[in-house]
Amino acid sequence: MPSPAGVGSAAAVDRLLEWFDTDGADFPWRRTRDRYAVLVAEVQLQATQAARVVPFYREWMRRWPTVEALAGASLGEVLRVWQGLGYPRRARHLHDAARRIVAEGWPAPERLTDLPGVGTYTAAALRCFADEEAVIPVDTNVARIMARRFPDGWPGTPDGRGWAVGQALMDLGRLHCTARAPSCDSGCPLRDRCPAADSGTVAEVTPKLRPQGRYQGSLRQRRGLLLAALADAGRVAVDQDPDAAASLVQDGLAVRRDDDLVPVP
Ligand code: ADE
Repeated sequence: MPSPAGVGSAAAVDRLLEWFDTDGADFPWRRTRDRYAVLVAEVQLQATQAARVVPFYREWMRRWPTVEALAGASLGEVLRVWQGLGYPRRARHLHDAARRIVAEGWPAPERLTDLPGVGTYTAAALRCFADEEAVIPVDTNVARIMARRFPDGWPGTPDGRGWAVGQALMDLGRLHCTARAPSCDSGCPLRDRCPAADSGTVAEVTPKLRPQGRYQGSLRQRRGLLLAALADAGRVAVDQDPDAAASLVQDGLAVRRDDDLVPVP
C-alpha cells in the first residue's frame, strides 16, 4: 500500500528522481555499468571529493581500461599513478582485488565484501551502480539524508530506478543536504515535508562524523610525503623518517633495502 503523503512518502522519491533526471551531474563513471569501472570510481571516491576524482579516474581508465589490465600492472606503477589521491592502501587493495577477480572471477553479489578493500558501502555501490539493483549504498552523506528526511525509513524505490536513486542521493548529499551548511531553501527537491528542516533541527539530525584529527604533522601526512619523495627519487633514506618508513613497509606500500626505502616492484 502506498504510504500517505507523509514524511517518507513515495512522492518525495518521485521528486528526487525528477530533480536528478534534469539536474543530475554527468560524471564519467555514470556513463558505464562496467563493474570494474564502477569499482575504480567508488574506491577513488571513498575519501576524495567527486570533482577532484574526475581527472584521476580518467587517467586510471586510460591506462588500465579493464580488470585484466590492472591485474597485469606492477604495484609500484599503480601506487605512482595513485599519487595525489591519498590513502594509498586503497590502491593496493584495488590492485589485489583485480588480481583476485582475474584469477577467480567476480564473487556472487552477496560475497563482494570478500574482495580486498570492499566493505559494505562499496559492495552496495557495485550492486546499485553496475548491476542496477535497488540497493542503496549508504555512505556518510546518504546516512545523513536518511536521518534528516526519512527517519521512518526509506519509502521504496520505483521499479527500474535503483541506479538513479543511488546517484540522486549522492548528488543531494553533495549539493543540498550537506553536513555543515545545508541549502534546504534553495531548491532542495526534498524540502517539502522534510521533518528536520520543518522543525529547524537539521544541524542536530546530523550523524556525527568520526573526528578526523589534524593532518598537519600526522603520520598520514608524513607517509604521504615519503611516498611522494620515493616516487620522485626512486630511493629515500629510511632515517629521513623512520616511523613513516616502517609504517609504509608494514602496509606493503614500499620495500626496505639496506638503509633505504625503494618502491615495491
Ligand atoms: N560519491 C560516491 N559515489 C559517488 C557517485 N557515484 N557519484 C558521485 N559522488 C559519489
